[in-house]
Amino acid sequence: MCGIVGYIGQKNVLPILIEGLRRETYRGYDSAGVVVFNEKADPVCVKAIGKLENLEGKLNNRQIEGVLGLGHCRWATTGGVTEANAHPHWDCQRNIFLVHNGIIENYKELKEKLGKEGHRFSSETDTEVLCHLIEKYFQGNLEEAVRRIIKEVRGTYGLAVISKNDPQKIVTARLSSPIILGINSNEFLVASDPAAILTRTRQVINLDDNEIAVLKPGNFFILKEKPLTQIEWTLEEAERGGYPHFMLKEIMEEPEAIENAIKGRLIPEEGTVKLGGLQSVSERLRKVNNAILVACGTAHYAAMVGEYMFEEYAGIPTKTDIGSEFRYRKPIVNEKTASIFISQSGETADTLAALREMKEKGVLTLGITNVVGSSQARETDAGVYTRSGPEIAVASTKAFLGQLATLAMLTVYLGRQRDMALVMGKRIVSELSNLPELTKEILKSAPEIAKIAKKYKDFENFWFIGRKYNYPIALEGALKLKEVSYLHAEGIGGGELKHGFLALVDEDFPTIAICPSDSVYDKMISNIEEVKARKGKVIAIATKGNEKIKELVDDVIYIPKTLEMLTPLLSVIPLHLFAYYMAVLHGHDIDKPRNLAKSVTVE
Ligand code: G6P
Repeated sequence: MCGIVGYIGQKNVLPILIEGLRRETYRGYDSAGVVVFNEKADPVCVKAIGKLENLEGKLNNRQIEGVLGLGHCRWATTGGVTEANAHPHWDCQRNIFLVHNGIIENYKELKEKLGKEGHRFSSETDTEVLCHLIEKYFQGNLEEAVRRIIKEVRGTYGLAVISKNDPQKIVTARLSSPIILGINSNEFLVASDPAAILTRTRQVINLDDNEIAVLKPGNFFILKEKPLTQIEWTLEEAERGGYPHFMLKEIMEEPEAIENAIKGRLIPEEGTVKLGGLQSVSERLRKVNNAILVACGTAHYAAMVGEYMFEEYAGIPTKTDIGSEFRYRKPIVNEKTASIFISQSGETADTLAALREMKEKGVLTLGITNVVGSSQARETDAGVYTRSGPEIAVASTKAFLGQLATLAMLTVYLGRQRDMALVMGKRIVSELSNLPELTKEILKSAPEIAKIAKKYKDFENFWFIGRKYNYPIALEGALKLKEVSYLHAEGIGGGELKHGFLALVDEDFPTIAICPSDSVYDKMISNIEEVKARKGKVIAIATKGNEKIKELVDDVIYIPKTLEMLTPLLSVIPLHLFAYYMAVLHGHDIDKPRNLAKSVTVE
């Protein structure tokens, strides 16, 4: 995700900003920028796309002096990867310079209004509206203007701003996007990530939502008194947000991944969704009568869930395939086919090759992608970003949740273009908005899942079984366990057990059975009984309140109730945690498993 750093003190600010940005780059970024204020000259603002070294290259040989400045590294969300879209952003007069993390959901309305009032914009970002809003309300006091504008914006922000007309101060504010203040005897820092300021100070204040802080030479204030805390993390731990591994950090971010995917896109009163990236092809989509979902690895399992969703709720005949197969088949497509490519990185070679095949055939191509400006995002006709934030661990976790949430939204979008009833649209949309809270509940059972992993640590083979929407989740659970713990795991549809697989079941081959209380629950119970009859141990993922299942299985992990089509977004979380804890117990290199790569850009 994006990173903010700011400084006010007595030292030359530029090296401090660059050092801070370097510490934040582990989070993933695609451009960076700085602004330096100096009382005797105009502010110097320099931005560059790509690596931080590109920015440093542009700064080289320039005499840039000043003791006040802001820096930012950007991970594109609204607007492509361009220098104009990189932060800092400024107002019409170039008096106000601002850096921002988060998403301003109502930026289009605000931009239109400000445009009519004569403001000129120089980027495609949501962030820039903040600068123009501050310009509009500025009456000599920067914090007052910030206080005024946050009443008008909807969305999330961690921001820091400086102004030529109220110099010698940084004003910073937050809502659902972290901001910390670093406190030293004669200098203050602001950052979105402790890693950015740890080399200068360990005394910090965490800003809370809706708070505004003002940092001035020699003093600072917040609208509320706050105690100082001491950071105990090492630099490396700080990069992982205090978690021992990126994989765990990213699993813990799964609620956030769903929240970011759905933010500003649900229209509850109309029982539908707004997917801006599909606007240009909406009429073409209306005519689509068959769909193909193509992806690799974990993204392919998301595609499989999408297939169930599309057929049941959008009424569109759908097929799924892995990129490496699809590109060599002779798929039957026509002018009414929508081909949809799902990829976290947007750079997976097999998925891209399949996409190019479809383009050549003149088929409509859509992308569900996390990385803004990636090859997939550029080459598809249209698409939806999952906005999951950078995923560092090789094994994909939170990106999968972003993909599933996006597929559910796409189902509503396509369904409402067809025969989906308003009441059904409303139900799905309302349940989607509950998911972040429901997923947080599951994460609370992490210690319990760690205990279960310990109990099964010495087993070398595992079955994962599920049916209907949770069949792909059985495949994902098995893949995750293989990837990080190097144990043998197989995912199968519960109904297939009796077609050969049961031959392997005995007391040494435990089964993880995903059996929420849904339309195939009874069928799953029969499958579990087949395993138990052969002395197989069973861990069940069941719906909260189902006490009866305890009589049948060895261990139960509960998930909350939701709509059947959305259960994969809940049931997969314990499986991600289970794989993670198994890998910890086996002492593996969790974030970089042997023989695997995060983004497979070769065939
Ligand atoms: C690699 C990664 C997997 C990922 C797959 C597809 O194999 O290790 O975690 O699921 O690629 O990647 P994509 O970026 O296309 O989603």
